[in-house]
Amino acid sequence: MESNEKVERLLELRKEVLKGGGEARIEKQHDKGKLTARERVNLLLDKGSFEEIDAFVTHRSTAFGLDKQKFLGDGVITGFGKIHGKPVYVFSQDFTVFGGSLSETHAEKICKIMDLAIKNGIPVIGLNDSGGARIQEGVTSLGGYAEVFWRNTMASGVVPQISAVMGPCAGGAVYSPALTDFIFMVENTSYMFVTGPNVVKTVTHEEVTSEELGGAQTHNTKSGVAHFATPNDAVCLQDIRKLMSYIPQNCEEKVPNIPSKDPDSAKAKALDSIVPLNPNKPYDMHDVIQGIVDKDSFFEVQKDYAESIIVGFARLGGRSVGVVANQPLSMAGVLGIRSSLKGARFVRFCDAFNIPLVVFEDVPGFLPGTDQEWGGIIKHGAKLLYAFCEATVPKMTVITRKAYGGAYDVMNSKHIRADYNVAWPTAEIAVMGTKGAVEIIFRKEISKADDPAAKQKELEAEYSEEFAHPYKAAARGFIDDVILPSETREKLIKMLEVTQHKVDSVPKKKHDNLPL
Ligand code: HXC
Repeated sequence: MESNEKVERLLELRKEVLKGGGEARIEKQHDKGKLTARERVNLLLDKGSFEEIDAFVTHRSTAFGLDKQKFLGDGVITGFGKIHGKPVYVFSQDFTVFGGSLSETHAEKICKIMDLAIKNGIPVIGLNDSGGARIQEGVTSLGGYAEVFWRNTMASGVVPQISAVMGPCAGGAVYSPALTDFIFMVENTSYMFVTGPNVVKTVTHEEVTSEELGGAQTHNTKSGVAHFATPNDAVCLQDIRKLMSYIPQNCEEKVPNIPSKDPDSAKAKALDSIVPLNPNKPYDMHDVIQGIVDKDSFFEVQKDYAESIIVGFARLGGRSVGVVANQPLSMAGVLGIRSSLKGARFVRFCDAFNIPLVVFEDVPGFLPGTDQEWGGIIKHGAKLLYAFCEATVPKMTVITRKAYGGAYDVMNSKHIRADYNVAWPTAEIAVMGTKGAVEIIFRKEISKADDPAAKQKELEAEYSEEFAHPYKAAARGFIDDVILPSETREKLIKMLEVTQHKVDSVPKKKHDNLPL
């Protein structure tokens, strides 16, 4: 063979690689409003940065006529490229090849890039579009899944792992994303379930559509499995790029520092009057966050799930921080099972990847009731407490209003080793709210009084005078300062600078035992 023939052969093969499962199947993919695996990779990464590996891999199976159906790449595109100039490893499942199902070789390709990512300290992004285990391969395929799951677990906390679910993902195809740090879903074209609607109908006699059972809305509002719902593939990939701008490459790197702007001046000015004097009147904690962090930098995570707590990334003076905030607009900002889980998972991610934590606190306590108690609020609330306790990143807390009861301790208090705790003049730091406290400790006096209502009012005023302010906590040094809302940004930026080389550790252990 002449050398130009050899070159020709390579060029032919390269063309074939691009064909995936063929024109007809690509058209079907487009008709559903989905991009192909390759189009997705190109949109995700910086232009021209993708380097593919293992494009010539094909499956080894011969059963069920598979020896006659081979596709270069075997249903998954793998390689590396850059996002905002920084390297990432990526795999993108090709639904046009056996429905993106996972064969032994498909799994080997994913495992290869995961091993490289762990060794090199580089994030892994998985674009999932897969019917699960390749049915024709049986247990070989299940083994392939387990190899991926094992690596997901080994990589956890070492490099960030981001999953996008961009098609119908069933069985094994949902457990790899579930082991990663963040899950993006695309509305109306992506589903996640362990078993689909047909199996559900057989087993539980429930009639449910794919969308209801495991669509983007379901997992972003009901189950909390997913973190982001996006309207289409392109927005999903753009949002992954955005997320990557806040997080470091691995657990040993410091957070990105990107020049950014002061918050909108109207929002910053509004801070000083944002907290209503009536402690029962809500306000939107988003306005507080946006008045303090760098302009347009707040990137909310799980925004439609457990809305009484807000979590997300932001920048302060250019540096990334993880924001955790109670939301008085939703159930008065109370901590329940879901909000505790949401907060705990986010805090642990930030701590694993050196992202300083900034807490905005206005919390009346834990949610009472049989629903919560029987659901295990004790152990789930303990997860949030545990997460803040074990976090060794710089930790800061701003108490804007209520810091009551156990929730005062949990929300990154000084006692669990926060570095900087401040309160606004509107803060109330006490075991509980005025009305509840007076009803408990002065029950007898109130019932015996000639005018119980007047007596209660008088005692409430007394209690408020004594406890509904931040100065008792300040007198003990439990908070470091009482500051004006408008001073918050400047002080937090200074504290971020002071704590940027913080060294702290937990006692030597095999691993922790987070209350699961
Ligand atoms: C092999 C598969 C496949 C699979 C789909 N295909 N799933 N091939 N193994 N798991 C193929 C189809 O034969 C078809 O091939 C092409 O992919 C597209 O599939 P369609 O069914 O035409 O597409 P659609 O109507 O969009 O439905 C997609 C789907 C459905 C919802 C994913 O295909 C489906 O239900 N697949 C099976 C899902 C499943 O039960 N997987 C096993 C899970 S168990 P052609 O040649 O026509 O293009 C599992 C165990 C691991 O994963 C557990 C670990 C914890």
